[in-house]
Amino acid sequence: MKLQMLASVVAFMLIHVSQCTQPPHVLFIMVDDMGWNDVSFHGEDQIMTPNLDAMAYQGVILKQYYSEAVCTPTRAALLTGKYPIRTGMASTALRNSEDRGIPIRERLLPSYMKELGYSTHLVGKWHVGMSRNEYLPTFRGYDTHYGNRGGAADYFTHERVETNFDGTQYFGLDFFDGANPILAEELHAVDAFTDKTIEIINNHNKSIPLFLHLSHTTPHAGNDGAPLQQTPSTSNLKNKHIAHSDRRLYANMVTNLDDSFAQIIKALENNKMLNDTIIVFVSDNGAPTIGLFQNYGVNLPLRGQKSSPWEGGTRVPAFIWHSSLKPRVWDGLFHVTDWLPTLIAAGGGDITKEIDGVNQWPALQGNLLSERKDVLVLIDNIENYAAYRYGDYKILLGNTNTTFNEYYGKQLLTIKSALPNYFSELYASEVAKIMMRNGRDYIANNITNVRSAAKIRQLDILVDEIPCVPTHAKGCLYNIRVDPSESHDLWESAPNITKTLAAKLLKFWNEQIPRKKIIIDPRSDPAKTNHIWLPWIAPGSPEVEDATEIGVLYNGKGI
Ligand SMILES: *[C@@H]1O[C@H](CO)[C@@H](O)[C@H](O)[C@H]1NC(C)=O
Ligand SMILES: *[C@@H]1O[C@H](CO)[C@@H](O)[C@H](O)[C@H]1NC(C)=O
Ligand SMILES: *[C@@H]1O[C@H](CO)[C@@H](O)[C@H](O)[C@H]1NC(C)=O
Ligand SMILES: *[C@@H]1O[C@H](CO)[C@@H](O)[C@H](O)[C@H]1NC(C)=O
Ligand SMILES: *[C@@H]1O[C@H](CO)[C@@H](O)[C@H](O)[C@H]1NC(C)=O
Repeated sequence: MKLQMLASVVAFMLIHVSQCTQPPHVLFIMVDDMGWNDVSFHGEDQIMTPNLDAMAYQGVILKQYYSEAVCTPTRAALLTGKYPIRTGMASTALRNSEDRGIPIRERLLPSYMKELGYSTHLVGKWHVGMSRNEYLPTFRGYDTHYGNRGGAADYFTHERVETNFDGTQYFGLDFFDGANPILAEELHAVDAFTDKTIEIINNHNKSIPLFLHLSHTTPHAGNDGAPLQQTPSTSNLKNKHIAHSDRRLYANMVTNLDDSFAQIIKALENNKMLNDTIIVFVSDNGAPTIGLFQNYGVNLPLRGQKSSPWEGGTRVPAFIWHSSLKPRVWDGLFHVTDWLPTLIAAGGGDITKEIDGVNQWPALQGNLLSERKDVLVLIDNIENYAAYRYGDYKILLGNTNTTFNEYYGKQLLTIKSALPNYFSELYASEVAKIMMRNGRDYIANNITNVRSAAKIRQLDILVDEIPCVPTHAKGCLYNIRVDPSESHDLWESAPNITKTLAAKLLKFWNEQIPRKKIIIDPRSDPAKTNHIWLPWIAPGSPEVEDATEIGVLYNGKGI
């Protein structure tokens, strides 16, 4: 007993001392379009992610982590710590041909990290502005950027094909090392990004804290002609137990991410940086099981998918690891805007200006309750719908009939042959071996318990005969804690809660800076610049103002 107490005091002092001398390194990994059901640490064995799991089990699994429903708003929220409605960055993703970006007046996460002494690097996708130099990562606080500036590109050609509203296409290379286009990259994007990430780790001067942001484009679908592309180094047989051919190709891309993760963790270990690195792994939104950029990812048992305000679009896989954190599944509300104040706090800083993000670092370190009471889940001013979570309840308002209101991908979960043994895969994984070399252990019973705790269960057995779909005249209300599948509408039966949440959501709606109309700028056409997507607006030109009107979200009675 005494010995244990002494050990924990020493551990505390070590952590404390190490924080006083130098802030921890940060490796922040965001993957693209991965759904709730596409990692095995949530309890399903179909797509195994043993390396991610091995770290998730030794860290904090965020069970109620909300992101935005598409790429651009998520990245804007991450980088500013503000809901995207504050910056005009909500709703549909940015096209490469739009003159738009996170407004220059906004200060971004890497710039704060730089102030704390970090060296800052972005590897992979940006997607929050590329029409002018001032929008690019190296003008917003990153020392270096290697990767794509715009939306999903082909994994091998690194080119982006964009179809305009009139059916014409703009196409060109979108792959850069800082200011320079990379004209001859042979590697698949996952391998190129992994190699660059490892190179940055290997070359890093360890007496300077590192903020390394890896923004994978996988497992997003590529250009129309070749949407699902795995790396050549992954065996086609890897996921042969999966019955649906396209789901199997998708699973192979997830395997690529899992392998990439192992290589990067190994590099941190080799450089003796692992113990003092905060590692975050998150998806940017739910998987698009069907429709635009369909990738055959699955969000079940959650309803909806990418580009929808349902849980399947916004509640995504997430975990954080640091040697000082007690392993657990954490049920606290967490939003993508929280990373900015949380990582700044972990780096020894403090943010005083008004943002929407909440500093979760003390809660994560101390195993406390979440500081967050509510989440603005989504506002889409183009499609005219919105969702908001307060405590256990979630309200949806507006017209969602243009989006995805159902449950998708059940068939894709079919297995056609025996699954590999989960524990054999876990123990054989590189990350489990690294963790065990560093004094961590895996006890099968505990893992089974953690997986069970991380799994989402539908507790409410009442299911509406006709699923509620919000209109402007009537919304939907759910108790997410017991009804995570959003299948039992409480709008009529809990009028007080409906009223309270509707009022709070309508307040956000009326405060929003709406997303501008999509204007495709013909000057962006990469055909003009040897088929390379380059900034086309002269430096210093004023940012485009736009008078997009805010529509009516709710015109029904009684709230
Ligand atoms: C690493 O950075 C420290 C602090 O800036 C500096 O004193 C040292 O010379 C650097 N080491 C190398 C090998 O560059
Ligand atoms: C969707 O909603 C709009 C506006 O209420 C309506 O005009 C349209 O008919 C609806 N479409 C479908 C397919 O329900
Ligand atoms: C990392 O920390 C753990 C305990 O938290 C310790 O057992 C291990 O030896 C450390 N590894 C290194 C390389 O410092
Ligand atoms: C495993 O679970 C047991 C009982 O729940 C607990 O006492 C023990 O600390 C856990 N071990 C690890 C390594 O997490
Ligand atoms: C609903 O609100 C009204 C007015 O504020 C209050 O009188 C009533 O008790 C509330 N009902 C419930 C079930 O909380």
